[in-house]
Amino acid sequence: MSYDLAALAPRDVMRAAVLTGFGRPEKLEYREDVPAPVLCNSEALVRVFSAGVNPIDAKTRSGKGVSAAITQLPWILGGEFAGVVVQPPYEFAPFQAGDEVVGMLFNPRFQGAYAEYVTAPILSLAKKPENLSMEVAGAVPLAALTAWNAIVEAGSVRHGMRILIHAGAGGVGHFAIQLAKVFGAHVAATASARNREFCEELGADQVIDYTATRFEDALEEPVDLVVDLIGNVQDATGSRSIQCLADGGTFLSVPTGSFPTMHEEIQAAGRELHASHLKCSPDGRALQAIMRLIEQGDVVPHLERSFPLKDAAEAHRHIESGRTRGKITLTID
Ligand SMILES: NC(=O)c1ccc[n+]([C@@H]2O[C@H](COP(=O)([O-])OP(=O)(O)OC[C@H]3O[C@@H](n4cnc5c(N)ncnc54)[C@H](OP(=O)(O)O)[C@@H]3O)[C@@H](O)[C@H]2O)c1
Repeated sequence: MSYDLAALAPRDVMRAAVLTGFGRPEKLEYREDVPAPVLCNSEALVRVFSAGVNPIDAKTRSGKGVSAAITQLPWILGGEFAGVVVQPPYEFAPFQAGDEVVGMLFNPRFQGAYAEYVTAPILSLAKKPENLSMEVAGAVPLAALTAWNAIVEAGSVRHGMRILIHAGAGGVGHFAIQLAKVFGAHVAATASARNREFCEELGADQVIDYTATRFEDALEEPVDLVVDLIGNVQDATGSRSIQCLADGGTFLSVPTGSFPTMHEEIQAAGRELHASHLKCSPDGRALQAIMRLIEQGDVVPHLERSFPLKDAAEAHRHIESGRTRGKITLTID
């Protein structure tokens, strides 16, 4: 698709949903006079068309999450986006003006993506496939990179490996199931009954309704890897998962601070087990690999709903429900 770059050219001010203080969703305010970001070194300036909304955004807005690293208000949240490059950092940079890209931002080190423009390191970007709409593409980078990190990198997925993924129907989980299947793993996923069919369609071999059964009892066989997207903040999910691990198995805890006693409990199990926390980071190459899988139809992002930028507070209420199926985005037309 070609764009009228003159129409997308940056101005001094832009539209953005800004965080004016820590607290309820109403702390997000839509404004049209926010200073636009200024390019620096090897960054590209991108006109954002959609920005994913993730649980970390809501945690940070409420004063938890990564709020301690926000040293000035107002601040722009948002860790992922899809858009069009309007200014590349140099002539032979891998992405040039007019290219459709996706990217993850190191928010809050960078201003976030709930805005008309962002700057991002050029090598953190990936080309958006043509068969992926801008609206959906903005929901992919952070959640899919987290899933990639868990399944492919930290989890070292291999054919026939048995993996238990908690919250299989959510943003990270629905990518994790699909990536695990791409690499030939056997996947058990936890979800409530309303998401059983969804998880099966994603490829899960066993879906356990965590509201009706104890997953540790329902699991067909011990697993080599647990990807825990819940932790002990709900029903001791982390602790109960340890008994699901086969000898030599690995436990990955994704939500920061959700399982503080993980290492002690792994050690107390008295078997050879491994455990690690997991932190997602921007990685243009891994993101490009994910984009290729999406282009081939091996991974299909699910967008539950998108909201206009001015309804960022409503989008936060939605993500805070903890019931999102797949992902949600903000769109900036
Ligand atoms: N460390 C990092 O770098 C990093 C990166 C990304 C995400 N995270 C964290 O990882 C967590 C998951 O993120 P996300 O984006 O996937 O969240 P999400 O999209 O909000 O997850 C929603 C899903 O969770 C499911 N769910 C809720 N309680 C459950 C339970 N007890 N057991 C099984 N499933 C349950 C829901 O399914 P049902 O409606 O069927 O219950 C829903 O589909 C969040 O805490 C997030 O902050 C951390």
